[in-house]
Amino acid sequence: MAFKVCIISCGMITNAAHIPAYQQFSEDYEIVAVSDINEIVAKDTAERHGIPRYYTNAEKMLTEEKPDVVSVCVPNAFHKEYTMMALRHGANVLCEKPLAFHYSDAVEMFEYAKKSGKVLMACQSMRFTPDRLAAKKYIEDGGMDKIYYGELSRIRRRGIPYWGTFHMKKISGGGAFVDIGVHMLDALVWLMGNPAVKSVSGTTMENHKYEVGSLVGSGALSGEVHTKRPFDPDEMDVEDFSCGTITFENGAKVSFKVAWAANLPEASDIVLVSKKAGIDLPSGRLLFGENGESTLEMEKCPYDTPFFGHMYLTDNLRKVLKGEAAPIVTPEESINVTKIIEMFYLSAAQGKEVSAASFGE
Ligand SMILES: NC(=O)c1ccc[n+]([C@@H]2O[C@H](COP(=O)([O-])OP(=O)(O)OC[C@H]3O[C@@H](n4cnc5c(N)ncnc54)[C@H](O)[C@@H]3O)[C@@H](O)[C@H]2O)c1
Repeated sequence: MAFKVCIISCGMITNAAHIPAYQQFSEDYEIVAVSDINEIVAKDTAERHGIPRYYTNAEKMLTEEKPDVVSVCVPNAFHKEYTMMALRHGANVLCEKPLAFHYSDAVEMFEYAKKSGKVLMACQSMRFTPDRLAAKKYIEDGGMDKIYYGELSRIRRRGIPYWGTFHMKKISGGGAFVDIGVHMLDALVWLMGNPAVKSVSGTTMENHKYEVGSLVGSGALSGEVHTKRPFDPDEMDVEDFSCGTITFENGAKVSFKVAWAANLPEASDIVLVSKKAGIDLPSGRLLFGENGESTLEMEKCPYDTPFFGHMYLTDNLRKVLKGEAAPIVTPEESINVTKIIEMFYLSAAQGKEVSAASFGE
């Protein structure tokens, strides 16, 4: 029998990524209902995708539908509230990124999931590019020893998301760093084997809030949004540029820059260095010794959709629920990433390096 799925909120990511990802594996998932506080989009989403029921109250949906799986796709500030609600109703949860802004919230969410005997997985959908998957395999096969230095660079030329509430701190929690930087951080800690963060030094800036670009260039990869809200740059109180460094307990250092808008080449780049080898992504270039050089062997992505990462996640989740696999995005990784995010914004606000010790560890 297929797992019953409910989805909370019917915005861009629900329509473009979560619904297609569950429907890709229709032998194992049946989406029984969706909900949104906006009835028009809830009804429209249900009709467009052939989903039998829609609700304007998520708790009512959970009570009546008793789903096995819930996708939490509300704006960031509501992730915890709806994740805890879905867990309370006995569901397993796939929660959109960023799972949380506060380390203590992430710990609480995973502890509650564990106590409830349910799976909670952060929707870190950007690990699954062919270059990152190939790099992970290369590292796991022993191609690198201790990674002592890394760089990540996630740059959009003009990509401030302007269809929703991403630009408003009270709803989004932050700007470019928490929105697209979280994907890079997740990929990085995963590739590095999840070393514990020791300290973070970061800076936030706003330079281009009056210049928005295309929908696709700002993250609505299918070119469609469903709940477009007029964008008022004067409401924007989050960063469009961030940079800094992360130090890990094992001594490794990472420098980063993340931009929704910057006069730089577009980038989703990761560099990792160890004594044995260095990796440059997405090129897949491998460097070793004085002249040694080769290229990672990459496999073609099996899913022909811009949000292919969500397919990997729903495929993994069904296997986890059937006892055939472990969660691909682990609680420990998501807690570490949340801690880095919180430390980054604290550092930017205080203008100084923040240490993990300030979290009572
Ligand atoms: N994994 C990815 O690559 C990816 C990409 C884009 C967005 N996201 C994440 O998905 C989430 C949603 O983004 P989106 O682009 O779909 O946003 P969106 O603005 O298109 O949609 C948000 C929806 O949430 C509804 N909503 C707002 N407040 C609510 C509340 N309190 N309770 C219930 N519903 C509420 C709105 O009516 C709207 O329909 C965000 O957390 C975002 O970070 C992830």
